[in-house]
Amino acid sequence: MLAIIGGTGLTRLSTLAVAHREVVRTPYGEPSAALVFGQLNAQDAVFLARHGHGHTIPPHRVNYRANLWALKDRGATAVVAVASVGAICRCAPGDLVVPHQLIDYTSGREHTFFDGGDQQVVHVDFTQPYSTEFRARLLAAAKEANLAVVDGGVYGAVCGPRLETAAEIDRMERDGATLVGMTGMPEATLARELGLPYAAICVVVNHAAGRGDSAEEISMERIAKVLETAMDRVHILLKHVAPLAKGHQR
Ligand code: HPA
Repeated sequence: MLAIIGGTGLTRLSTLAVAHREVVRTPYGEPSAALVFGQLNAQDAVFLARHGHGHTIPPHRVNYRANLWALKDRGATAVVAVASVGAICRCAPGDLVVPHQLIDYTSGREHTFFDGGDQQVVHVDFTQPYSTEFRARLLAAAKEANLAVVDGGVYGAVCGPRLETAAEIDRMERDGATLVGMTGMPEATLARELGLPYAAICVVVNHAAGRGDSAEEISMERIAKVLETAMDRVHILLKHVAPLAKGHQR
């Protein structure tokens, strides 16, 4: 079953024919919201609002472990994450990007299920942080839907909730990051630890700090406008992903 984690601008999946909702308790606490089960384009799917249904949970307070654990426990076999990002380079506001790499700048988040205690020490491979196969399916779905999607990007995950300084963005660009967002980690690594194929659709909502029309400041009004129009395309893309993700195991 395909799981969709919706971020800013996607607290509800209007295209999902809802069957039932479930509040799940996990060994790591409560997920951000009730899981919403239903059918998306005639396929079983489950939706989770990362920031809660009322968009009240900031990126650094999201219980990423509970979210991923709950999805896996309730039958998810692949996770597509929708996340808004700023464009550092090679993309512009309004673009949809399927990143292929990431750099983790976050700290202080509960970032692993393998946290000692009685467990054996486990080091998961994370060379390719996004599932290569699942990324290919997302790109195929975009093609089928006739949607322009940028194939590849390096997601720089920051703590937030504040936005970056221009100098921080310069440094991230030197590191090789092309996108900046606040929720990509530890979500991706926790999915890997659970053996869940994970890929992301990044919605570029602004030029990053110091770039383009964000040279002096980042406008929240502009972000809201871009989000609104871009989400229509995300809904179309997700509808096409659902049949392709059917029966996905790894
Ligand atoms: N920085 C960090 N996270 C973001 C941004 C940004 O510019 N835009 C959307 N999420």
